[in-house]
Amino acid sequence: MKQSLFTVEHTRQLTDETYEMVLSGDTSAITAPGQFVNIALPGKSLRRPISVANWDKGALLLLIRVVGDGTRELVRSVPGTELDTLSGLGNGFDLENCPKNPILIGGGVGAAPLFGLAGRLLERGISPTVALGFRTGKDAFYLKEFAGLGCRLFISTEDGSLGTKGFVTDLTRTAADCTTVFVCGPTPMLKAVWSLPGLTDGQYSFEARMACGFGACMGCTIETANGPRRVCKEGPVFRKEELVW
Ligand code: FES
Repeated sequence: MKQSLFTVEHTRQLTDETYEMVLSGDTSAITAPGQFVNIALPGKSLRRPISVANWDKGALLLLIRVVGDGTRELVRSVPGTELDTLSGLGNGFDLENCPKNPILIGGGVGAAPLFGLAGRLLERGISPTVALGFRTGKDAFYLKEFAGLGCRLFISTEDGSLGTKGFVTDLTRTAADCTTVFVCGPTPMLKAVWSLPGLTDGQYSFEARMACGFGACMGCTIETANGPRRVCKEGPVFRKEELVW
């Protein structure tokens, strides 16, 4: 974990609720896709945990869903704003021993960490299938960006206004050859994916409510097969066999 100042370079509204933000700063503490940063905002006692969508040596890409005053204030930050940021938090996805055709499943803003993950898998010669689920077509974002990476991409929306009508778990039927999953989204979606019989191996990234964000308060603890584990410290990514529902 590293505390440093990141500078807002750019923000762009993607949907009614979702924004892209690029920050410049020292990304040396970030070691794996699926990790997150925790950003302090003036006048707010708690930092805001945001999943890292992608990063390089000096820049950080965040895809931020506005869920309250803090995140609304964050996405209104103008270029040049300096943000006190804890980076390199959480374990992230483990890319070792990944088979050649995993499926990446994202629900809503859970798509964010899958973007950096897909890019890094492709760099390793692994061709992921990406399945993204949204409530409506208006909520969908980063489709061109995922397609631009060269991924096989499937979309679902609950109202059928874009892609396949239904839930993102329905899309796994179109990728029946995949048995390994990397997934990020709300807990009911993670549970639904966990129950799919064809996905025998997987890494599940949780979106828990957090307070400290670095393991001190125990506020994000979930029960696992190995006992209580903190989503912010031992997670947010857990393997399928660790999960108990
Ligand atoms: Fe404090 Fe996880 S948020 S231990």
